[in-house]
Amino acid sequence: MIEFKNVSFSYNTNEDKALDDVSFAIADQEWVSIIGHNGSGKSTIAKLLVGLLTANSGKIFYDGIILDEKSIDEIRKKVGIVFQNPDNQFVGYNVKYDIAFGLENQQVPREKMLELIKEYTLKVGMENELEREPQTLSGGQKQRVAIAGILALNCDIVILDEATSMLDPEGTEEIIKLIVELKEKYHKTIICITHDLALASKSDRVIVLKAGRVIKADKPAIIFQDRQLLQSSNLDMPFDLRIYHEAATIAKLNNNKELMEALWEYHLKK
Ligand SMILES: Nc1ncnc2c1ncn2[C@@H]1O[C@H](COP(=O)(O)OP(=O)(O)O)[C@@H](O)[C@H]1O
Ligand SMILES: [Mg+2]
Repeated sequence: MIEFKNVSFSYNTNEDKALDDVSFAIADQEWVSIIGHNGSGKSTIAKLLVGLLTANSGKIFYDGIILDEKSIDEIRKKVGIVFQNPDNQFVGYNVKYDIAFGLENQQVPREKMLELIKEYTLKVGMENELEREPQTLSGGQKQRVAIAGILALNCDIVILDEATSMLDPEGTEEIIKLIVELKEKYHKTIICITHDLALASKSDRVIVLKAGRVIKADKPAIIFQDRQLLQSSNLDMPFDLRIYHEAATIAKLNNNKELMEALWEYHLKK
């Protein structure tokens, strides 16, 4: 379990808080989306979770162990992060060495390393691209390599920070499929930072951030029924969800329970 307890953080002492008294808990094997407008503090949460930043006040716990200088090395082994811009996360000059780098850091023997690289590039459909240079990969392929690296490291927790934001619809679809697999097949705990509400609707729970504060945390079905909440936090609604909410404002349509249910289901399937 991950616990964020009354965490506040400012990048500069004279500026507004990037996070203001943020608390939430995430259970093992839960898939949680963190949504919110640009600048609402989503990436700051990700950086605090992996110890790239340190809270000004409040505490972060992993399975009851407080995240601090003493525990950070052990905790980092459990948590893998995929950043928004995949170019910033490549360290190797080709796919194989990039994944190998993470494994080398954990002192995995060479034989085992090659086995793991083969196994996990196969899982993400990148087994034929081992010699490719990162610059020559598509956005979706880069994200898939990053995910293979995390799987190879056997992290229990995967944080994806806007992993689909730079991808075309096809690349986005690939990554969504992989995230579903991370949960269902690999039983990972997934923290998915996104402003793609269609992606968030597939998760177990959604935390809504606004100006550094948690304004709501609940199941997607409840969050997405709340039109006012979505509008007030400046989130773009996907087309199918917008149709649902538009229909809800028209009494004649809204009174038709079957129609409203059908529209809601249509949105869930999209
Ligand atoms: N490196 C930084 N230095 C100063 N301010 C920053 C830095 N990174 C983010 N901020 C500010 O902190 C707030 C939260 O940012 P961030 O967590 O990146 O939001 P999000 O990921 O939701 O877009 C914003 O007001 C942003 O301008
Ligand atoms: Mg961000």
